[in-house]
Amino acid sequence: MSFTLWFTGLSGSGKTTLSRGVYLELKRRGIKAELLDGDIIRTNFSQELGFTKRDRDINVRRIGFVSYLLSKNDIVSVVAAIAPYANARRQNRRLIGQYIEVFCNCPLAVAEKRDVKGLYARARAGEIPSFTGISDPYEEPRAPELVVDTDRETVEESLIKIISDLEDRRLVPKRDQCKLCNYTEEDEFRRRQNLAALGFARNIQV
Ligand code: ADX
Repeated sequence: MSFTLWFTGLSGSGKTTLSRGVYLELKRRGIKAELLDGDIIRTNFSQELGFTKRDRDINVRRIGFVSYLLSKNDIVSVVAAIAPYANARRQNRRLIGQYIEVFCNCPLAVAEKRDVKGLYARARAGEIPSFTGISDPYEEPRAPELVVDTDRETVEESLIKIISDLEDRRLVPKRDQCKLCNYTEEDEFRRRQNLAALGFARNIQV
């Protein structure tokens, strides 16, 4: 039995950056892990789903089910998905058991100012309906295992906080206790390129 690390938070709160950072560090330590990013899942696995409450719940529970399967087979599932509804998150927690929730806490104003993908501007202009934080709810986690204040911490600081917490929980061995592994980021990049060549969208970004 392994665990699932779920990054929840507004769009632009740092979920993708931090999940990727943790994922790569786990791989460097020789730990079997997979990264499930909301944007990639939505383009390759949940293509038919939109952003109604029903569709988001289906998406979040679908990712939860895959995480359950991975974690059950000793593979860490690192998830970056908004998961705006507390009830769907609670269901995943119950299903997965070893579920660690990381709340990427970032004020809407800061996420909106970053506007990495230009979506907030479009949502404000009324071009994207039901946009989380603007015209759709985000129910903040009441008792997440971890909170990272991404408006005040550097990426490096948040990553250290998360990895140290996982070490303290004995879910991840400390760096010097890891056996050498032959994982390289070039291998990872090649695999992603191969996926892209096979028509899977947006898979080469890890
Ligand atoms: S969730 O609500 O179902 O958990 P998910 O994390 O998979 O959402 O997808 C969110 C991503 O979809 C955002 O990062 C953004 O790029 C894109 N997106 C498109 N439309 C919306 C919307 N209405 N609300 C939020 N995100 C949206």
